[in-house]
Amino acid sequence: MINIGLLGCGTVGGGVVKLLAKNRDTIAEKTGAEIIIKKVLERDEQKCLQLGLEAGMITNNFEDILNDESIDIVVELMGGIEPALSYVIAAMEKGKNVVTANKDMIAVKGKEIFETARANKVDFYFEASVAGGIPIVYPLKQSLAGNHIEEVIGILNGTTNYILTKMSREGRDYNEVLSEAQSLGYAESDPTADVGGWDAARKIAILSSIAFNSRVTLNDVYVEGITGITPQDIRYAGELGFVVKLLAIAKEVNGKIQARVHPAFIPLNHPLAFVNDVFNAVFVRGDAVGEIMHYGRGAGEMPTASAVVGDIIEIARNMAYQTTARIGCTCYEEKAILPISELSAQYYIRMTVKDRPGVLAGIAGVFGNNDVSIATVLQKTSQEDMAELILITHTVKEKDLQDALTVLKGMSIVGKINNVVRLEGVN
Ligand code: NAP
Ligand code: HSE
Repeated sequence: MINIGLLGCGTVGGGVVKLLAKNRDTIAEKTGAEIIIKKVLERDEQKCLQLGLEAGMITNNFEDILNDESIDIVVELMGGIEPALSYVIAAMEKGKNVVTANKDMIAVKGKEIFETARANKVDFYFEASVAGGIPIVYPLKQSLAGNHIEEVIGILNGTTNYILTKMSREGRDYNEVLSEAQSLGYAESDPTADVGGWDAARKIAILSSIAFNSRVTLNDVYVEGITGITPQDIRYAGELGFVVKLLAIAKEVNGKIQARVHPAFIPLNHPLAFVNDVFNAVFVRGDAVGEIMHYGRGAGEMPTASAVVGDIIEIARNMAYQTTARIGCTCYEEKAILPISELSAQYYIRMTVKDRPGVLAGIAGVFGNNDVSIATVLQKTSQEDMAELILITHTVKEKDLQDALTVLKGMSIVGKINNVVRLEGVN
């Protein structure tokens, strides 16, 4: 028998309770042991009672779980950094294995957690922290371990993918679709983490650390959200053969790591262009495997519980052979982080300019003077004496582009730089 102490009985915690009950017999067959939820830490007792848990199992004091020597695995599904971190560390120091879905905690405190796991020879599993039900953490650590990973590109936030999909396909308003995503339970309690790109940034920090064997934390990730994307940008993207996605991108470039989250124009035939609604996907390129893509539900009660229960089963199997702490921290290198100014990419620029002779030449001159080469120019609308210019650059340096934009912003012929979006996946 393997006993679990569950911290948090909300959306994911509730899913774990249901899944362990539903597939109890097959899970016992797979692990050779019965997996029992022994105690649950939860503020709201009613949540647990509604799931069929007994009142005697519920506590609001973590010490009850920490000091219960029969508890083998602590499953942390409370969220947030504290007190979750202190509880996880204390549990490991007591020799308990830990499973979590907590990307906030790992993306900032991963090093400390892994060191504690190693020192205490316990397992620390966190598959559900990235892309919910999609297996990606374990595949990177295990199935793809023979590869040198070159890049990981993900649609890692369901809320923003849902919003962009509805805006693209149904021409709907951003705020209206965000409210819908919140009511469907996809968004975080504070949706700023979703629409601001921070949720995806935490997830790509975790994946980068595993893929490139070097610690990447949230602070190392360049982050831009989707709040600046307008229906015009989405329409022009379609006209130019692209779709707009919030991408989380991690690449190794000359031994350095580039980690960024921002909206991107991707070609309509790119594999990630087909990932719609609340679905997530992770595209990986390795030197042996080539290109692969993992696709599925990145959020929600049962998909996320699927990943958590998979981790519990893996620990149960390790315990059966006394092999916990077999796959620990994989960050054995220290690679530098590339600043966004050193990125080379193609860019979409939408700007409002004076509609009169010589303006286009003046603008082209500024780009040329800053080594920014233009691939496509469209003049889309003209109102009174103003015109909207849509430009796509060739591959240029981010710093050169920003320098050109700074000059343009100060010119009387430029009304406004409305938006700048990077292109990704263009061959
Ligand atoms: P949730 O629904 O808010 O559940 C968390 C539960 O923990 C709540 O019932 C909360 O009670 C309880 N709790 C929090 N702090 C506590 C404390 N100090 N003592 C006792 N109980 C406490 O959150 P969730 O959506 O299940 O998310 C849990 C974790 O999974 C988070 O780390 C999240 O990032 C991660 N995750 C979630 C999803 C998803 O689709 N939801 C997907 C992937 C990963 P109160 O309600 O009273 O605060
Ligand atoms: N708010 C997150 C999302 C939930 O929309 O993807 C899963 O982390």
